[in-house]
Amino acid sequence: MTINTVHTKSELGTIVRTWRNAGKIVGLVPTMGALHDGHLSLVRQAKKNCDVVCVTLFVNPTQFGAGEDYATYPRDEEKDKALLQSVGADLLYAPSVDEMYPDGTAATLSAGRLGNILDGEFRPGHFDGVATVVARLFAHANPHKAFFGEKDYQQLQVIKQMVTEQKIPVEIIGVATVRENDGLALSSRNAYLNADERKIAPLLYKTLVETAQKFVGGMPAAELLIHAKENLISAGFGPVDYIALVNANTLVPLETFLPDVPARILGAAKLGRARLIDNIAISER
Ligand code: PAJ
Repeated sequence: MTINTVHTKSELGTIVRTWRNAGKIVGLVPTMGALHDGHLSLVRQAKKNCDVVCVTLFVNPTQFGAGEDYATYPRDEEKDKALLQSVGADLLYAPSVDEMYPDGTAATLSAGRLGNILDGEFRPGHFDGVATVVARLFAHANPHKAFFGEKDYQQLQVIKQMVTEQKIPVEIIGVATVRENDGLALSSRNAYLNADERKIAPLLYKTLVETAQKFVGGMPAAELLIHAKENLISAGFGPVDYIALVNANTLVPLETFLPDVPARILGAAKLGRARLIDNIAISER
């Protein structure tokens, strides 16, 4: 037995209507495949919060920039199906590019200011592509709730803003980042690391943790961020696109830690062929 898979929005719509008519709460987990335990934790969370769970598998061309890895992005649908089956997902929606973009592959939504800062500065148009495809996946699947990883924290904020602006009645649920034992956040792109780089890779997370602790301890952001970047570069990362201490809701930079302001530290850096991103919440504890 393999997981029930549909490729068109009309087939998907028929199944979701049946579920909804039976009073079921429908959860959606959008992915680009190459599934790992991070993705599966979203499915597990969705199973807890919903009656039925649909996972989507679509490598979205509009969120890849020129020179990025759209053509070579890891694809293994059979393995993904087996993993989804093992965690009890109910349905897989794997649309074609034509199904998602019948009028051509251009983003039709803008992520606005949130899309142009931090990762958006280094990946122009990326978050417009994410907002566009997620809005379309929501239109096709009509879920009650949708689950996204905090691993991609800026993406999570962009999607929350998008559903508010577009008045889409889907509850967005953020799920904690799944990490390797040494702290490295699980990512499909970790496969690009060679053995030496893999040993260095957890330093990104470690640097975020140490920088956050010093920020809470009263050190100013400017000084800390210079030190954090130097630390990564001397270990073999480079370039470091950004390390940023920001307001967790608006992603606006913070100069000093204020106990009443929710804060987050985000970072992105190249390591060999891979570009790693990570982030953590900042709290007084
Ligand atoms: P993808 O990179 O496949 O990730 C799918 C979902 O898994 C995202 O919500 C992402 O944040 C989450 N995820 C990835 N690594 C994780 C980890 N280590 N722990 C917890 N969650 C993790 O993100 C995308 O696809 C696309 O941009 C998408 C939203 C599907 C739109 O195309």
